[in-house]
Amino acid sequence: MFQHVDVYPGDPILTLNESFAGDPRPNKVNLSIGVFLDDARRLPIMGAVLEAETAILKQIGTRPYLPMEGAPSYRKAAQSLLFGDDSMAVGEKRIATVQTIGGSGALKVGADFLKAYFPDAQVWICDPSWDNHRSIFSGAGFKVHAYPYYSPVTQGVDFEAMKAALQKVPQGDIVLLHACCHNPTGADLTEQQWRELVPVFRERRLLPFFDIAYQGFGEGIEQDAFAIRHFTSEGLVSMVASSFSKNFSLYGERCGSLNVVCPDSAQAENVLGQLKSAVRRNYSSPPTHGARIVAMVLEDMRGRWEDELTAMRSRILAMRSGLYDALHASRPDRNFDYLLKQKGMFSYTGLSQEQVRRLREEYGVYLIGSGRMCMAALTQDTIAPVAEAIVKVLD
Ligand code: LMR
Repeated sequence: MFQHVDVYPGDPILTLNESFAGDPRPNKVNLSIGVFLDDARRLPIMGAVLEAETAILKQIGTRPYLPMEGAPSYRKAAQSLLFGDDSMAVGEKRIATVQTIGGSGALKVGADFLKAYFPDAQVWICDPSWDNHRSIFSGAGFKVHAYPYYSPVTQGVDFEAMKAALQKVPQGDIVLLHACCHNPTGADLTEQQWRELVPVFRERRLLPFFDIAYQGFGEGIEQDAFAIRHFTSEGLVSMVASSFSKNFSLYGERCGSLNVVCPDSAQAENVLGQLKSAVRRNYSSPPTHGARIVAMVLEDMRGRWEDELTAMRSRILAMRSGLYDALHASRPDRNFDYLLKQKGMFSYTGLSQEQVRRLREEYGVYLIGSGRMCMAALTQDTIAPVAEAIVKVLD
């Protein structure tokens, strides 16, 4: 019956994480999957999250289905975190928001919605991008293309090439954009560059689809939402997939949201209806627990949560400069500036597949095959061995 079923070659990120779990070496270091660890190498439970969860568990009650679109308090909180408390689009009820199963669920619901209403559009993702972007959009039936993004020479964004490519994208196509903390490169656009993209999207009637999974890990809650808020205030329609996995350290609770910024409230209402229909077809309705935590934290403990998030961001910056110092001390002839310039959880090291293989097999240091390193999983005590291993595999 199932003889024709292909072998699954595995996911470039999740399968590597499984290999790491099965690696018996005690000194192994996992810098592959994008998770934030504390300095004791544990996934932190944020204080605000613990306080909210404890309060929720004290008043445990019945558990009815949530509506297809999710919990109202969660949707409202997610919307204002992304678009700002004073957003005109929010005030004018122009944004259709649904609670989703993580950021991936948001992308999938969004992709299904788009395929139903823009069947001939094509999707453009940056080169490189998070591997699952291509999988989700092609899985929804889209033809997926790549536009230039990263320059290995400058170890930053090749903005001129990106802009020139977007100017040639067919009218009406969908363009996936990383709002902040680009995954996998850590190379972000400047505010000025985001401003420069607005006329390109407007003239070519392109649909921007923002993915924001690291709000608060780059420069701050408000700064990291700049692109989304700027496009919205310029009157562009857009879609936004967000995730609370990292900034609440709630990975397994799968808390995300999909937001569609529409020209008016009537269209937003219809879009919301179709998003609900896409949710129903995929998983019917989202789960309750994580959403209750996020909503309570954002409503009642926002200050405490933001302080904790700031401390997480500072820890990542300390890891960046710590690794930079260690590498620079051993190899002053090489340029490691990218560690200091890139933003968020990830750095793109420029290490080859072969060097990454050697790091894993010979030294137990796990990076993604592309050379992406999760800076947020590095700790004070792993900086020195990781730097040593990297130096050994450099030419
Ligand atoms: C990552 O890029 O490592 C994370 O977003 C986790 C994932 O699902 O791939």
